[in-house]
Amino acid sequence: MKATAVAPANIAFIKYWGKSDEKLRLPLNPSISMNLSVCVTTTTVEFSERFTHDTVSEGFDSERIIRHIDYLRKLAQVELRVHISTKNSFPAAAGIASSASGFAALTVAASSALGLHMSEKRLSKLARTGSGSACRSIPDGFVEWKDEYAYSLYPHDYWDLRDILVIVDSHMKKVSTTEGMKAVRTSPLLPARLAALPGRIARIKKALTEKNFQEFGEIMEEECLDMHRVMQTQTPPLYYWTGDTVDIMELIKQRTIPAYFTIDAGPNVHIICEAKNEVKLIELLKDRKIIINKPARGARII
Ligand code: PMV
Repeated sequence: MKATAVAPANIAFIKYWGKSDEKLRLPLNPSISMNLSVCVTTTTVEFSERFTHDTVSEGFDSERIIRHIDYLRKLAQVELRVHISTKNSFPAAAGIASSASGFAALTVAASSALGLHMSEKRLSKLARTGSGSACRSIPDGFVEWKDEYAYSLYPHDYWDLRDILVIVDSHMKKVSTTEGMKAVRTSPLLPARLAALPGRIARIKKALTEKNFQEFGEIMEEECLDMHRVMQTQTPPLYYWTGDTVDIMELIKQRTIPAYFTIDAGPNVHIICEAKNEVKLIELLKDRKIIINKPARGARII
């Protein structure tokens, strides 16, 4: 009873920040993302009578992972111990949504190893209970997450975009997203954010349909800054940016090249551009450590 899965990280254009149900990890608002081709997690899950206890690769949150496995074991009515070996292609917990690719790969590998035949929708729901944004790493390409699960809006080859991820700091972030989100209601800016989101989501979906890059980029930046304003006005406030983060935001804002930024719960900057501008951006960022991602398929067994 063994399976290996690979799952992409994803970058959200419309962000998930705050839950309507803490335990079920249901989001306060829908979010929209793109799977990343290079930032991936590969996970092998094996259940066996030979094992006397559960083990997880070092450096990962084994308690949270085993809690997720326990849920799947119960579903499959299996009591065997598990060995989990998992590897990220990128630094963990630095705002590259490692929990998204991690829990997506874990869910797909474990359900396959347990012989549970599940639909994409079911896998997305299960991945969500491990880490909210993980549900968006199950379907292909460009994805929307509403309430319980995520689904594909467009396949990975719909629009040849790039996510040029600038690694500002690869160290562990101080406050986890799970902890940070708990205080979202202390921000006086949350009601305005929630009121603005339906209109913003409709606008970005239209820009995606029309492949209107300028419109799309402007909305994505507006959304990133809005989420960070909420984080920064929570009690206690959360500041994920460093001086370098702001320098890169300033550089992109000059629009010498058509590109826009977005930032998750960490200091690294995702610069989104069309494929035709990739080389010019690499030149502009020549002294920086970067990872270049294309839009990608969702989680799968390998
Ligand atoms: O699901 P989590 O705990 O990885 O939360 C992700 C939160 C953000 O990355 C900040 C936003 C998002 O939608 O990805």
